[in-house]
Amino acid sequence: MIELSDILRPVEADLERYRLLFDGTLTHPDEFLGGVLAHVRGRKGKMMRPLLVLLMAREAGGCSECSLRAAVALELLHTASLVHDDVVDESGERRGQESANAVYGNKIAVLLGDYLLSLSLRQAALTDRPEMVDIIAQLGGTLSEGEIFQLANIRQAVSTEEAYFRIIRHKTAALFAACGQLGALSADAGADFTELARAFGEEVGVCFQIRDDIFDYFEDAAIGKPTGNDMAEGKLTLPAIYALDRNPDAEMLQLADRVKKGEAEKKEIARLVDFTKREGGIDYARRVMRERHDEALGMLAGFRDAEVRQALSDYLDFVVERAL
Ligand code: IPE
Ligand code: IPE
Ligand code: MG
Ligand code: MG
Repeated sequence: MIELSDILRPVEADLERYRLLFDGTLTHPDEFLGGVLAHVRGRKGKMMRPLLVLLMAREAGGCSECSLRAAVALELLHTASLVHDDVVDESGERRGQESANAVYGNKIAVLLGDYLLSLSLRQAALTDRPEMVDIIAQLGGTLSEGEIFQLANIRQAVSTEEAYFRIIRHKTAALFAACGQLGALSADAGADFTELARAFGEEVGVCFQIRDDIFDYFEDAAIGKPTGNDMAEGKLTLPAIYALDRNPDAEMLQLADRVKKGEAEKKEIARLVDFTKREGGIDYARRVMRERHDEALGMLAGFRDAEVRQALSDYLDFVVERAL
């Protein structure tokens, strides 16, 4: 099993500088707001996104102050999106602790997300590179589009694979794509490598969200967030979409409809989950993830720095095999 500590080795020193900068943004002299920010600072995520920025910057010539600012901006934007996502998903746990909405309520959590977004844009400005600021500003919109498309999709009678991929490309893959792209740009990479780094990030992001959606089908306290939440919120993800396509059983289609309308009871959701597993929905999602993984792996062939190439290959393995 790949450990994150192995992946980050080539950029360990850069990551330490990144951490100091990131933590430095999450402070405020006001006692209450300072406390709210300390709650956010208290639990780090896996730092997958900054890690991708720093590894791509290294391959493209080296990590600069600009790379670090981009990494901080992107992780702040990610954090803001999680704080808002937990309000939308009515989720009480994040990163192994109570979510911001659970501790402070929805009103504070919405405003906290806005505050983190503004911190992110400030860090983007500190890159001093207008094209990078523009990418980050647009990305904020893309992530919101993904979450909005998802809510709109819940209201549609059927969920298709096409709609699923559109949602995850916006809400998740676009962020990983920007990490690759900005890592490369921050080291003044040319257009070809920058596009390669962006495309690699996008494939990673698709794999990442499929893995996340598979998590939701199994009980696991170690993930640090609730599972079984997606159907409870009306969301049908790739495994269920596939299973219903493969076997359009009338009773299950009716159940799926009730899930989407928020009318299904726990027992009914459990039956749709069982059906999905029985029809090979999880295996199918794993296969799709594997294909995207292999596609991304192929992109690393021309990388010059063998240490970075290995780290990114391990990164990819981690994304699909991870247990958290
Ligand atoms: C969670 O992202 C949101 C998704 C895109 C599924 P992560 O699993 O990267 O969250 P942290 O940052 O490590 O907590
Ligand atoms: C990803 O979707 C959330 C964002 C990209 C903000 P989910 O709703 O599945 O993420 P988790 O499972 O809450 O982390
Ligand atoms: Mg969620
Ligand atoms: Mg999820």
